[in-house]
Amino acid sequence: MKPFFANTAVLLALCGYAAYAASEPLSIKLPAETTKLRPSDLPGYTLATQKCAICHSVDYIEYQPPGMSETQWTAEVRKMQQAYAAPLNEDDIKQIGAYLAASYSGTAAPPTGLQASPAPSTRGETITDVKTLLAQNACLSCHAIEQKIVGPSYRDVATRYKDDPKAVDILADRLGKGSTGQWGDIPMPPFPALKPEELKSLAVFVLGQGRQAQ
Ligand code: HEC
Ligand code: HEC
Repeated sequence: MKPFFANTAVLLALCGYAAYAASEPLSIKLPAETTKLRPSDLPGYTLATQKCAICHSVDYIEYQPPGMSETQWTAEVRKMQQAYAAPLNEDDIKQIGAYLAASYSGTAAPPTGLQASPAPSTRGETITDVKTLLAQNACLSCHAIEQKIVGPSYRDVATRYKDDPKAVDILADRLGKGSTGQWGDIPMPPFPALKPEELKSLAVFVLGQGRQAQ
């Protein structure tokens, strides 16, 4: 007798459903970005900015061990897709992997933001940025603390120079200019872009690896 009422009810229900469905995507809010990714010209940088801060802070990237290869970075990104359903296609994964390897493992030129602390040189005690320096110059792709890889272990270097009062200056100088014939036939490339203060920080760090019982 009152088809009007029935129709309205159906209509209202439909409208309600449609409105709900349409508004749902708008309710997603992205978390505020707390830190920034290291800038780069690579396409992977833009992709990472869009996709890597969706679920967590990009700090997670900074906390990975230094010197990771492109294969390792790509596997890490693929894990985000496979384990946590990050919205990434195969091309995204490759591009972001390449970007992370270049910008976080020192296979690219260090970003211009890298600056030695302006503190005056006092026997190179400013070791604050050593982890960054090691990562950006790929030191740990040729050296490990405990064992020889391409170059001597830092422990062996520290042991050899432990009684040499000039050790910091000697090692800083060899890092800047390159080194050959000290440990074998394989030369170490020079790091002319590093500032004297940075070279000293690295030398102090290496020399500290023998003394720390660990
Ligand atoms: C869909 C959500 C999601 C997205 C998008 C995402 N991650 Fe993750 N990520 C996670 C989760 C979940 C963890 C594990 C969190 C934990 O252990 O606290 C994690 C952990 C990590 C870690 C720490 C190491 C590890 O394996 O646990 C790194 C590094 C990382 N993510 C990098 C990335 C990068 C690079 C991207 C961009 C390509 C990305 N994530 C995008 C969910 C995501
Ligand atoms: C491409 C590989 C490679 C890289 C990258 C590399 N090294 Fe070396 N390093 C070597 C080799 C090989 C030697 C041994 C050279 C020699 O026999 O004179 C060496 C020697 C050294 C020594 C000892 C020098 C001496 O006179 O006894 C120190 C200290 C050192 N490296 C630190 C570093 C630091 C810090 C970095 C990053 C800034 C670095 N290395 C990057 C290969 C490398």
